[in-house]
Amino acid sequence: MLKTIIVGASGYTGAELALFIARHPELELSGLYVSENSLDKGKSIAELYGKLLGVVDMTLEPLGVNDIANVCEGIDVVVLATAHEVSHDLAPHFLAANTTVFDLSGAFRVNDLAFYEKFYGFTHQYPELLEKAVYGLAEWNGGAVKATDLIAVPGCYTTTSLLALKPLQQAGLIKEGIKPTINATSGVSGAGRKASTTSSFCEVSLHPYGVFNHRHKPEIDTHLGTPVVFTPHLGSYKRGILASINVVLKEGVTPEQVSAVFEQAYQDQPIVRLLKGTYPAVKNVEGTPFCDIAWAQDGEDLIVFSATDNLLKGASSQAMQCINLKFGFPMTLSLL
Ligand SMILES: NC(=O)c1ccc[n+]([C@@H]2O[C@H](COP(=O)([O-])OP(=O)(O)OC[C@H]3O[C@@H](n4cnc5c(N)ncnc54)[C@H](OP(=O)(O)O)[C@@H]3O)[C@@H](O)[C@H]2O)c1
Repeated sequence: MLKTIIVGASGYTGAELALFIARHPELELSGLYVSENSLDKGKSIAELYGKLLGVVDMTLEPLGVNDIANVCEGIDVVVLATAHEVSHDLAPHFLAANTTVFDLSGAFRVNDLAFYEKFYGFTHQYPELLEKAVYGLAEWNGGAVKATDLIAVPGCYTTTSLLALKPLQQAGLIKEGIKPTINATSGVSGAGRKASTTSSFCEVSLHPYGVFNHRHKPEIDTHLGTPVVFTPHLGSYKRGILASINVVLKEGVTPEQVSAVFEQAYQDQPIVRLLKGTYPAVKNVEGTPFCDIAWAQDGEDLIVFSATDNLLKGASSQAMQCINLKFGFPMTLSLL
């Protein structure tokens, strides 16, 4: 059994992971941590998330940087379900304690120091970790995930968009010089559990935000290998992302070719479901680890639709897939 701890366990993604890890036959959930001064330290996680009652009844323990060496004794796997700056500061300590780190934040997703200054507002101190970190887009980077001890789990909009675009990009079907245009809407849990007026029920309706400056745009560009136009929207519902992506195809690309590249990419990937005769809907992926994809073509115009649960395929279940890949377990273990 691999002893596994979650840092940031009281947050939305951390709590989802606690459930996956607790029911995983090869992992032992060995600790749930929050910050040193957390208001939730000492509480059972089931006090915060009633659905975990009788399933994960562990206490949330406070964690300071100086505790890490002790906490890591005998620990194999650490999941950081923490804010970007927190993951940035904590990951080197956990790596120094010989654990394998799966980070849900953006702190190690793009190997470019300037990216962190510009889009995250902090100076990245660990270029050598950016060099070693592997981007955990599970269906595409499985081999590389096996070979590292620092896995940067992709962002939620990014996962939803990349899974839809990568088959077309890799097959060279996208017309050169015309950027794919992604319009995506997320539920409010994308902003985490902390109270804030921008994510308060009475304030949210349906509106764009982060126009031309959202941090997932350069993350998508980097891991797709070509620039996109990306507009995120906030919707007044809890969880789930739907992306509608306009792509101009190269002249002469047929519907059969488009179908073939999607089939080829995902025929052996049970987490990505290619829909026929219907389109993805948030309600069908909510609470599931799936990414649902469908498309429609009119001549050279293609619209690809992609839906995920931002907390699951967009974060925690993808982290679980990465843990499975890293340690040689079936990729869907504990998920399906
Ligand atoms: N929400 C999503 O849909 C989503 C999707 C993909 C990726 N992500 C990323 O995943 C990470 C977690 O997101 P989330 O939505 O779960 O956030 P969240 O709900 O705000 O939870 C953050 C957690 O971190 C804890 N924490 C804060 N400072 C800490 C510290 N110094 N040491 C240990 N624990 C600390 C918090 O508890 P206390 O403050 O009580 O200590 C809380 O448990 C973020 O980087 C986010 O960008 C989120």
